[in-house]
Amino acid sequence: MKNIILIGFMGSGKTSVGIRLSYRLRRTMVDTDRMIERLNQMTVAEIFARLGEEEFRRMETRCLQRLLEDSHQQILSVGGGLPMREENRRLLKRLGTVIYLRVTAETVCTRLAGDTTRPLLQGDNPQKRVQDLLEARSPIYEAAADFIIDADDKDFDTILGEIMERLGEEE
Ligand code: S3P
Repeated sequence: MKNIILIGFMGSGKTSVGIRLSYRLRRTMVDTDRMIERLNQMTVAEIFARLGEEEFRRMETRCLQRLLEDSHQQILSVGGGLPMREENRRLLKRLGTVIYLRVTAETVCTRLAGDTTRPLLQGDNPQKRVQDLLEARSPIYEAAADFIIDADDKDFDTILGEIMERLGEEE
């Protein structure tokens, strides 16, 4: 059995889709941001502010290393920046089937308008930040994925149906 791993930009729906997949497949779900927050007793925003982004990135890698020791029957939802490290992409491959939930910058901006929990999107012009980051990250997400699900304007049932179909083809 392989883990099913959801990657994608902030606001792409990794956690919401992951929870539904975990019900559907009766598997436990792990969200790397929540795991890091629990282990460190700090929110992601606090970790960025107090320890810096680099330390957060090291925590993400350690999180994946720990997950390698766990059962490989879980649903994993990983932070939007996690696949940017090459080492993490190698760990993701070893951990299971990687699904990229792809959304446009417009979708991200609509969904995350007013969000204060994501340190990378604070500041004067979050829209521009989303556009730039998404443009830089898209090819990396695509290369890291076993398959891609376009998730704009789709309800959860449709997204889950597409994922189940693709997972069936992978087996
Ligand atoms: C980040 C995404 C966040 C969180 C942190 C950094 C990123 O997770 O890990 O704020 O670099 O894209 P979500 O993708 O779950 O929002």
